[in-house]
Amino acid sequence: MRHIEREELKPEESDQLLLLPGGHPPLWNHMDSIGPVGLQQREGAPGCSQEGLPCPSDSSELVLECLQQFKVTETQLQQIQASLLGSMEQALRGQATPASAVRMLPTYVGSTPHGTEQGDFVVLELGATGASLRVLWVTLMGTEGHRMEPQSQEFVIPPEVMLGPGQQLFDFAAHCLSEFLDALPMDKQGLQLGFSFSFPCHQTGLDRSTLISWTKGFRCSGVEGHDVVQLLRDAIERQGAYSIDVFAVVNDTVGTMMGCEPGVGPCEVGLVVDTGTNACYMEEARHVAVLDEDRGRVCISVEWGSFSDDGVLGPVLTTFDHALDRESLNPGAQRFEKMIGGLYLGELVRLVLAHLAQRGVLFGGCTSPALLSRGSILLDHVAEMEDTLCPSSPLAGAARVHALLQDLGLSVGASDAELVQYVCAAVLTRAARLCAAALAAVLSRLQHSREQQMLQIAVATGGRVFERHPSFLSVLQKTVMLLAPQCDVSFIPSVDGGGRGVAMVTAVAARLAAHRRLLEENLAPFRLNHNQLAAVQAQMREAMVKGLRGEASSLRMLPTYVRATPDGTERGDFLALDLGGTNFRVLLVRVTAGGVKITSQVYSIPEDVAQGSGQQLFDRIVDCIVDFQQKQGLSGQSLPLGFTFSFPCRQLGLDQGILLNWTKGFSASDCEGQDVVCLLREAIGRRQAVELNVVAIVNDTVGTMMSCGYEDPRCEVGLIVGTGTNACYMEELRNVAAVAGDSGHMCINMEWGAFGDDGSLDLLRTCFDANVDQASINPGKQSFEKMISGMYLGEIVRHILLRLTSLGVLFRGQQTQRLQTRDIFKTKFLSEIESDSLALRQVRAILEDLGLPLTSDDALMVLEVCQAVSQRAAQLCGAGVAAVVEKIRENRGLEELTVSVGVDGTLYKLHPHFSGLVAATVRELAPRCAVTFLQSEDGSGKGAALVTAVACRLAQMARV
Ligand code: G6P
Ligand code: BGC
Ligand code: BGC
Repeated sequence: MRHIEREELKPEESDQLLLLPGGHPPLWNHMDSIGPVGLQQREGAPGCSQEGLPCPSDSSELVLECLQQFKVTETQLQQIQASLLGSMEQALRGQATPASAVRMLPTYVGSTPHGTEQGDFVVLELGATGASLRVLWVTLMGTEGHRMEPQSQEFVIPPEVMLGPGQQLFDFAAHCLSEFLDALPMDKQGLQLGFSFSFPCHQTGLDRSTLISWTKGFRCSGVEGHDVVQLLRDAIERQGAYSIDVFAVVNDTVGTMMGCEPGVGPCEVGLVVDTGTNACYMEEARHVAVLDEDRGRVCISVEWGSFSDDGVLGPVLTTFDHALDRESLNPGAQRFEKMIGGLYLGELVRLVLAHLAQRGVLFGGCTSPALLSRGSILLDHVAEMEDTLCPSSPLAGAARVHALLQDLGLSVGASDAELVQYVCAAVLTRAARLCAAALAAVLSRLQHSREQQMLQIAVATGGRVFERHPSFLSVLQKTVMLLAPQCDVSFIPSVDGGGRGVAMVTAVAARLAAHRRLLEENLAPFRLNHNQLAAVQAQMREAMVKGLRGEASSLRMLPTYVRATPDGTERGDFLALDLGGTNFRVLLVRVTAGGVKITSQVYSIPEDVAQGSGQQLFDRIVDCIVDFQQKQGLSGQSLPLGFTFSFPCRQLGLDQGILLNWTKGFSASDCEGQDVVCLLREAIGRRQAVELNVVAIVNDTVGTMMSCGYEDPRCEVGLIVGTGTNACYMEELRNVAAVAGDSGHMCINMEWGAFGDDGSLDLLRTCFDANVDQASINPGKQSFEKMISGMYLGEIVRHILLRLTSLGVLFRGQQTQRLQTRDIFKTKFLSEIESDSLALRQVRAILEDLGLPLTSDDALMVLEVCQAVSQRAAQLCGAGVAAVVEKIRENRGLEELTVSVGVDGTLYKLHPHFSGLVAATVRELAPRCAVTFLQSEDGSGKGAALVTAVACRLAQMARV
């Protein structure tokens, strides 16, 4: 690790910073010393410049002018730093402008390594080192174990593969993989692979990444715009040698950053300068507009290679850069990279040397085919030539340069070698300084994003330019120091080119993938397909018919003695009670020609009253009525009263209802088997001076149907999806065995909450449903209700979260007291968490209020659990409605049925997707029924009053 002390650098040195280790005076000073000796003549030879050789002073001018172009001033560097920072922040805000074009790509890596990662991983590296790919076997030993050296093998990629069809490239990669694995003695079952793919990609997941555009020497067809992980998976499949799971795809900068040795890091910046160049860093997630995160950090791949702000780069780009770009595979693109990346440095040197040779300054004014052919000078050549500029072995160095140039078919003059070395140094120095300006922009961004004046940061470096050009790093550091003086930067060379880092990310991805598999396994039973829903519809239909016939059925199909929906002639003032939902309400309903006016008051029924004695419960109800009458100035008036009693009652008449059993958390004693109208009248009787005329008792489904039927006469079905769930509908009287008469209709209260109590739903019931049922006050009862309604969905979710926590999938496996508390996860949380307008961060806020320590992955999983549970509930409810409307259609022998369903209930009304899913399921299962769902505005109290009004009208008519 190399750390440069601040006092080491004097400001005036900045501009003269050049790659001359050991304190050699800067190149520019050298130029003066390039005396005439360096320039000897060779007239008329082929490839030699015809124009007269310049005189010594001119040639040094020419060399100076040439190398002067590569000089980037501190001001220019600061401008590049500022402009790059500007475009980074624009891109983060999602306002990237093509001009600036640094892409700032989120990488789905949300934290630097914990060091806990363990396991064997295969790593495939493609693109970092140009025409070669590398396969590694990395064993991670977690925090305890000692560090195992990765095994690796490098494969040269034939040029026709780098430029051919994409399939060929990926097949080549898959072939190398199996060749590497063939040679390995390890057990090769369940191989987990991390794919280091060093090109700009839009990632949509740790294992999903779409190539934006090729860079460096690659240009395979049929890959840009495609998911490169899928292409690799397909190739591995085609290869068929090994079953390898590709768990993660990462950019090489991320692998470099993540591979940072524990103990010296964590590194929060990854910097690669190999054939190409790029950096990544840990950005505050809240600053990344495309992510709806407000917490934590996310690794961003800057993709600074495409930075091309002509304003600041224009003056720095030399004629050689333009020439190189014109000849490149991607002219106009990656302009910044083409001044820094190892793939281009050799070419820049070649272009300069060719230029100087053609101007007669070098090699006696003679070029060679090799010197004129693109790519003949490689990074290694530059490294070799530049490296020998060391005082310790000047001659030895010059000799090697000599040899190198001779290999290029050049006749090397006395000072040519040294001049060439200066050209190499100039090209590389500029690269290092430009890279420093870019890095300084990233450091400034980190300062902004963390609101830190002083920033202490570790930068992991990787790539052969660092390995081969040690002075590259020193110029880089010095320049960073000048451009980002408030940053204390330590540079950590990556030990194995990031292979370990890729394995770390793969380990995290594998863990997340395992978690996802466990999540899917636990949620799969909630994902009902068409056949399962159609089976529920058919079973419900069968149970309806049996129930109507009075045969054994889990559907009681209770006659309600409501024979018609309102016809609009109802009039008068009525009292209504609404018991059984979330709230108990007392209502005054005034039905006039002009419509219905409702005044109501909500009263609470404490749990100890709902689960106390029946007398206590009905006395509480009468107390509320009296309180309401007083407030409404109705005391002493005996208005006809309709009682919405939302529990299964066998009605013997409109005002007689025997409670069959309590549901929804009620269990008041001495009520089941009793006529609840009597219980109410007795309670009224116990209260002096109160007179009430209880005319009708209706179920909330009936009240809801009547209430909506008042507006829409086609409303012949009532549906409640609230605390509990149930439905009623107008059945042909001839089909109702319990009631005499063959003509006309009667509203049937299906009490579908109990559907499946005979085991007919057991195939669909999950262990979580069983947990909820066992913990309920009526185990074995209301099976359908317990899979659908608001009283239970939150509990089902809570039990799934407990299971996923015990499996280590959620909350890092930490079971919290809160999560083990019954009813702590309210069903309303599902509605909130699933609302589209809620960002993940708000989901997290809800869960944190529950005292659950969670990561964003956790929040996402909780959201999926809620979605699965509510989706199943809505689909089951939809299957039930489909059974009812199909029954009505067939009852009436209709091809098509148009019918409306009056609906009420908090879950149906408040859940963002429930109603839509119910309607979609009904359309799917009852395509010959056009069903309109009418949300009841005034609840079933109005319906109870209308039933009462109808009863009073009928009684009136009977009296006259
Ligand atoms: C409305 C109706 C009640 C019904 C309730 C069901 O409030 O007026 O009669 O019982 O909806 O929904 P809930 O979500 O309150 O259980
Ligand atoms: C690619 C980057 C990569 C860099 C270093 C560039 O050409 O666009 O994704 O990180 O090279 O390999
Ligand atoms: C009751 C029904 C009621 C439904 C909706 C169920 O628990 O048994 O009578 O209609 O809840 O409130």
